[in-house]
Amino acid sequence: MLIGVPKEIKANENRVAVTPAGVAEFRKRNHEVYVQASAGEGSGFSDEEYRNAGATILPTIEEVYAKAEMIIKVKEPIEQEYGLIKSHHLLFTYFHFASSETLTRAMIDSKSVCLAYETVEKADRSLPLLIPMSEVAGRMAIQQGAKYLEKQFKGRGVLLGGVPGVKPANVLILGGGIVGTHAAFMAAGLGAHVTIMDISLPRLRYLAEIMPRNVQTVMSNEYNIREAIKVSDLIVGAVLIPGAKAPHLITRDMLKLMRPGTVLVDVAVDQGGCIETCKPTTHENPTYIIDDIIHYCVANMPGAVPYTSTVALTNATLPYAIQLADKGWKQACKDNNELKLGLNVIKGDVVYKGVADAFGLPLVDVNTHLS
Ligand SMILES: NC(=O)c1ccc[n+]([C@@H]2O[C@H](COP(=O)([O-])OP(=O)(O)OC[C@H]3O[C@@H](n4cnc5c(N)ncnc54)[C@H](O)[C@@H]3O)[C@@H](O)[C@H]2O)c1
Repeated sequence: MLIGVPKEIKANENRVAVTPAGVAEFRKRNHEVYVQASAGEGSGFSDEEYRNAGATILPTIEEVYAKAEMIIKVKEPIEQEYGLIKSHHLLFTYFHFASSETLTRAMIDSKSVCLAYETVEKADRSLPLLIPMSEVAGRMAIQQGAKYLEKQFKGRGVLLGGVPGVKPANVLILGGGIVGTHAAFMAAGLGAHVTIMDISLPRLRYLAEIMPRNVQTVMSNEYNIREAIKVSDLIVGAVLIPGAKAPHLITRDMLKLMRPGTVLVDVAVDQGGCIETCKPTTHENPTYIIDDIIHYCVANMPGAVPYTSTVALTNATLPYAIQLADKGWKQACKDNNELKLGLNVIKGDVVYKGVADAFGLPLVDVNTHLS
């Protein structure tokens, strides 16, 4: 197959969809890979490394789209890219269609095949192409939280791990899923005293088994949250209710219960946030202060560490991309239900219920396109 890897042009996006190691895997299977010049620069991969792995470097995005059958990307196409997408293209990338009708209609009009990372789903309902970014965001939440606890950022001036003779910081993590688990491991590793809250008792049981001794599990409810925030130095919001806005577990009035300089990192901000006073911020301007409480609410946290994020993402996407390249999208989706669930738009038809429902568009049975 002819595979194209364009440079991401969405603002502040430094990730790339295929690494030189990925190119080598495709080449081993006799696929051609066209990489746009400097596509990997933001993640620390040079054109030379891609060339050495067997890729052909093309100077412009137009040439990559013109040559390729399968386009592998990171972010959803933006308006400048719509005109490049043709009916013979298979696009494999994050789309998040339900959040943009313009994008959905543009992809319908292109008559291309759109396979979305975010809806590739395993039999246990986990989302293997979202997990790596949650892992990155969870770990980063503690790194950022530790930084903003410093006095120069108006934090409480507390070192997460303390020192001999001084108590460690209290870290509260709301939600014990992927983000919460990775945040807890990081905070515990630094020596903090960590509390994870979740509403799922089986999840709390699991966490209690695998976590180190400086992590305690507590049922998530308003009473327990109100008590815990009074003594927390760093609070991480990491809840998710699939398909719904995050619930506001910390409301405006609760800020008064916290000690001045407490840091809130609301990772769930991309789903509306689980802290009422959180609104999305950017890496350029990541924090703001309300009632002496520092709010960090960056909606694309993995964007700050593009090398780690790119490698983590491509570790997860490459096995699927190889199946698509080896077999073609139809056969690959027939053979692998996880990939089939990633199909959102095919040749002008919406085949994913969540997308059809979002914009009142007709839903076409995906199987009609696979026969
Ligand atoms: N800001 C970013 O850059 C970024 C990056 C990755 C993920 N995220 C977001 O982080 C959030 C968490 O993602 P995840 O992968 O960990 O999800 P997940 O599904 O693995 O975990 C969510 C957890 O929240 C728990 N939960 C639900 N309601 C709760 C409540 N009332 N109290 C406590 N816990 C509750 C669930 O039981 C589950 O264990 C999502 O909104 C995701 O979109 C943001």
